[in-house]
Amino acid sequence: MNRRILVLAAATVVFAAACMPQSATVQEESTYNLYQVFFWTAAVVAAIVYGMTTLAVIRYRRKRNAPDDELPTQTRENRSLEIAWTALPFLTVFVLFILTLFTLNTVDAMPPNPAATIDVTAFRWSWTFAYPGKGVTITGATGQPPEMVVPAGQNIHIVLTSADVAHAFWIPKFLFKRDAIPGITNAFNFTIKDPGTYTGQCAEYCGLYHDEMTFTVRAVPPAEYQAWLAQQRAGASAPPPSAVPPSAVPSPVVPSGSVGPTYSGAPTPAGASSPAAPPVASSSPTAFSAPAGSQP
Ligand code: CUA
Repeated sequence: MNRRILVLAAATVVFAAACMPQSATVQEESTYNLYQVFFWTAAVVAAIVYGMTTLAVIRYRRKRNAPDDELPTQTRENRSLEIAWTALPFLTVFVLFILTLFTLNTVDAMPPNPAATIDVTAFRWSWTFAYPGKGVTITGATGQPPEMVVPAGQNIHIVLTSADVAHAFWIPKFLFKRDAIPGITNAFNFTIKDPGTYTGQCAEYCGLYHDEMTFTVRAVPPAEYQAWLAQQRAGASAPPPSAVPPSAVPSPVVPSGSVGPTYSGAPTPAGASSPAAPPVASSSPTAFSAPAGSQP
C-alpha cells in the first residue's frame, strides 16, 4: 500500500517535470533548464516537508490508551538544527537567484548584426510586423491574424511596442513572453532552431477582442526568407489576393477609448471636451457602447 503511494507520487513528479516543453529557440533552452532546476529543487523540498509532516503525524499521534494530559517529550534548543534550517533554505534561494540572473542574461542577450530586424507593434486587436529597410509591412486585423516570416537558424531582432494599450507578445513554444507597452520599446532576440510555424497570442487582457489577437511566426530556410521578402515587395503595389472578411467577427471599427482598459498616459486629442463626457456615443453602427451602468 505504502509502496503503491510512493510509486504514484514519483510518477506524478516525473510526469509534471516532462510537461514543460523544450524551447523552439536557442535562447530559451536556458529557460527550460532553469525550469528543470526549479522543479526538482521544489520536488526535494516538498518530499522533505511532506515526509516529515506525515512522519510526525503518524509517529507522535496520541496512543489509544494514553492519558488525556500526557505530553510528548518537550525539547528546547538545538543549535545545529536551527543553523541548518536557516542556512539551507537561504542557500537554496541564493543559488536559484544566481541561476535566474544567468538565465536572464542569456535570454536578454542581443548579439550585433542580426539576420533580420522586425518592428512589432501591437494594437487593439492585432499586430503589425514591419521589416525596416526591406519595404515590407504585414498588418493583421481582428480575426485575421498576421504571419511573421523569419529565417530559421539565424538571429532575429524584435523591437516591440504598442500603439494604444498594454499588450503582451507571447509564443508558448518559445517559452518567451514580453510586454508591449505604449511609449516604450522592448527589444529582444531569438534564434529559431527548426523551420516550422509557431503560434503566438496576446497575453495581456486588452479589451473586447483580446482573444482574437493571435499571430503566427513561420521560420523558413534563409534562401526562402529572401525569396519571400522579394515576393512581398513585388506584391506590395498590387491589391491583396482575395481577402475574405471573417463572418463571425464584427468589424473592428471601434472608437478608440470606448472599450477596454485605457492607457493613462495616452495623449488626449486637442479640444477634447470635459472628462465627464466620454466619446462613447458614436454614430458608427458597428461601434460598441459601454453598458449604461458603467456611466458615471
Ligand atoms: Cu492585446 Cu490582449
